[in-house]
Amino acid sequence: MEKAGLLPLRFLEESGTLLLVDQRKLPFEEEWFDATAFDDLLFSIKEMVVRGAPSIGVVAGYGHALNIARRMRQGASLPVIEADLERLLATRPTAVNLQYGARQVHKAFMQALSEHSNSNANTNANTNANTNANTNADPAEAALKEAHRLYQEVLDANYQLSNHGLSVISKGASILTHCNAGPLAACGYGTALGVIRAAHYAGLQPQVFADETRPRNQGRLTAFELQREEIPVTLVCESMSGFLMKCGKIDLVITGADRIALNGDTANKIGTYNLAVLASFHKIPFFIAAPLSTFDRVTTDGDSIPIEFRAEEEVLTFDGARHAPPGVKAINPSFDVTPSQLISGIITEKGILRAPFQESIAAALSS
Ligand code: MRU
Repeated sequence: MEKAGLLPLRFLEESGTLLLVDQRKLPFEEEWFDATAFDDLLFSIKEMVVRGAPSIGVVAGYGHALNIARRMRQGASLPVIEADLERLLATRPTAVNLQYGARQVHKAFMQALSEHSNSNANTNANTNANTNANTNADPAEAALKEAHRLYQEVLDANYQLSNHGLSVISKGASILTHCNAGPLAACGYGTALGVIRAAHYAGLQPQVFADETRPRNQGRLTAFELQREEIPVTLVCESMSGFLMKCGKIDLVITGADRIALNGDTANKIGTYNLAVLASFHKIPFFIAAPLSTFDRVTTDGDSIPIEFRAEEEVLTFDGARHAPPGVKAINPSFDVTPSQLISGIITEKGILRAPFQESIAAALSS
């Protein structure tokens, strides 16, 4: 029987509490982090209590909606709410889902706010975000409703893209994946791991090699998620990928994505580009699996995707313990960009997009 994945968040409607499973503690401890307070929300995204592009998008949506309600209770002005939104958007710059989730919620809020101000001539909506109990539209409720809708959109997209991905998996395929793109990261069935889970439950018996993915070791989360479902998984260091490909051990590579430009260039966890180059050299298909909310509708190519650089301590330490000689420097780009020429297809909820990507992406985004 199919087992449910561990989802990254719980929203307690009655108390308006946002709880996140602390992914820094997994796979050894399942601890829940209260991200209801705005500063705790910012911390949880920046410090990767919650991580993975679709998950931080959904969490940013809920977090912004909760903050709007709180600010409105305080009678705060619109510029205050917008300044908070900017702080939220700055927490992690690469994953476009964060921008998408928070901005969609903000759009729903602004729309309700303007309907409210139209229906009440005495309210100045430009200077004061507080509502009047006499009006129908409740901007804070509209924001929360949009956060719920976005969560459902992500859940549906996960399922749909996972099923579309089945067509690229042959029986007994040996699949290499990088970082973590399962339920914890994708806030649903999974993206890259969703395809693998769907293949497993369809009886295709996939075997998985999971890159450890230094410096944050998200591959351990992948191993944890697959092991829970008894899907065969072997943890490897990413430096082993070329060797495995040369030995004929890998049939295809599937990874998730953090931002996809309009020409198909794809930002994902640092090291993804290396894998794509290796896969191309060894003539192994290389697929990306991502929902349409991971596509950046403005950025034309990968050169314009902002890359997050994180603290050098993440490289100089392992599990919090220093392992580099004192005084040694490190750099820590958290993502890289894989040019679309190296991508065999992008698995989405609208089907598998293929080259020419500019056209297939435009068609998917407009349908
Ligand atoms: O830095 P992280 O752990 O948030 O990066 C996550 C990834 O790069 C994932 O591969 C990507 O977000 C896809 S998640 C379905």
